[in-house]
Amino acid sequence: MNKRLWIVQSLLFIFFAVQVTTGQTTQNRLVIDVDLGTETIDRNIYGHFAEHLGRCIYGGFWVGEDSDIPNTRGIRNDVVDALKELHIPVLRWPGGCFADEYHWMDGIGPRDQRPSMINTHWGGVTEDNSFGTHEFMDLCELLDCEPYISANLGSGTVREMAQWVEYMTSDAVSPMTELRKQNGREKPWKVKYWGIGNESWGCGGSMEPGYYDDLMRHYSTYCKNYGDNRLYKIACGANSYDYEWTRVLMQDSQNRRQMHGLSLHYYTVTHNWRNKGSATQFDENEWFQTLDKTLQMEELIQRHSTIMDEYDPDKRIGLMVDEWGTWHDVEPGTNPGFLYQQNTLRDALAAAINLNIFNHHCDRVKMANIAQTVNVLQAMILTQDREMVLTPTYHVFKMYRVHQDATLLPAHLSSEQYSLGENSIPALYASASKDANNRIHISVVNVNPVKDIQLACELRGKSVIETVTAEILTAERINAYNEFGKEPAVEIKPFKSLRIDGQNLIVDMPARSVVVIEVK
Ligand code: AHR
Repeated sequence: MNKRLWIVQSLLFIFFAVQVTTGQTTQNRLVIDVDLGTETIDRNIYGHFAEHLGRCIYGGFWVGEDSDIPNTRGIRNDVVDALKELHIPVLRWPGGCFADEYHWMDGIGPRDQRPSMINTHWGGVTEDNSFGTHEFMDLCELLDCEPYISANLGSGTVREMAQWVEYMTSDAVSPMTELRKQNGREKPWKVKYWGIGNESWGCGGSMEPGYYDDLMRHYSTYCKNYGDNRLYKIACGANSYDYEWTRVLMQDSQNRRQMHGLSLHYYTVTHNWRNKGSATQFDENEWFQTLDKTLQMEELIQRHSTIMDEYDPDKRIGLMVDEWGTWHDVEPGTNPGFLYQQNTLRDALAAAINLNIFNHHCDRVKMANIAQTVNVLQAMILTQDREMVLTPTYHVFKMYRVHQDATLLPAHLSSEQYSLGENSIPALYASASKDANNRIHISVVNVNPVKDIQLACELRGKSVIETVTAEILTAERINAYNEFGKEPAVEIKPFKSLRIDGQNLIVDMPARSVVVIEVK
């Protein structure tokens, strides 16, 4: 080997050795095409879901007008104020499984005269129907969000569903509109999102896809557009990997003409449905497993979308991931039918990964609704009588609200792996968008619980970076969570460990963190 070649090789070796030992490898790189975005991230991707389940509605949202917990017409002020910070775009109600045994007429009129029923799915408790259509629409007005009604196909009639649409949205003279006026609402409401059955393959009727397909045609035929109200009809979609369900619904050309959206449900379950694992007591193996299972959302969306593309290449029909989130064992000592779980930093990272995935697929994913808003599953808020706690997941939704209605920017990420035992997944996840004021937002997740990682972001097409600000969500422990009556252990903090280096932004991503960066 000649001497010059030897010197060059030695220098290269030293250069890479220094980079590796200082963790300054160039393999962690995010290239963002700032001037190339074409797709809008529908704000409804940041949607929510509230079911008559456990303490979501009763105790969570609704305390009644006579409660000494501060409320507006029976709806908790603290919960509404906190949720308004998230800019909730859309709220799905009344279920879930509850929707297919809910008879809306039981939930209107004087509250003390409303019939009660047994909530057979969720703890067998008595539902007194004190929170019904008017109360839900009042809640949506307080939150300034769109209602998404999930209507009863499983045990309700075609007539019942048709009359609910008429009651809510018609201005004509009819017994239904008279009834609405008698109940205190003169003007019709605007209701766009209308779900026709929930999990009809399971709790919503145990149907085969072909049978549901026929019912979907049948019921939706009678869900009319009154005045200038235009329904966006959402068909019950698949359970996780049931690609056959999606195909049957999509290949029916009659149905394709009627439906505007097709749903998909996928929950992150760490072990299995019998033993889901504790929400707070877990080790690094379970941390890894939860985040690994979360990543399956990517494959699910890709594969369902591919089937949808075959029949709907223009992407007219939205994929609505109207139930998603982590599902752990209930908190010890609580009613197993109430699905009450704590919420740690692990849940926050799972939410952040999912939201990045939805952003990337915003050409097809037009809505997503995390399950559920208050006191149930991966909640934003937990309440205990008059106390309220904001969960780590709440903070992710607050940080990510900047992506709502922004333009998705093409982003190419190369990430090192996070390995545990024989398994490994990428350590970093990211998405980027540009808002109406040309501000660029980059959301990055580092799932490695023990390793800080340096990431170089190249903003291709942006000649001058004027200012950069950022926020971070992290904690000392992977299972940190916020408790009633204590200082929050997980909350948003300003983030300073980043610098501009020419056209690059060098970000020192702490272990187990979510960072959202704003570039102007
Ligand atoms: O979100 C809890 C339940 O999960 C919903 O009621 C149902 O649709 C799903 O199985």
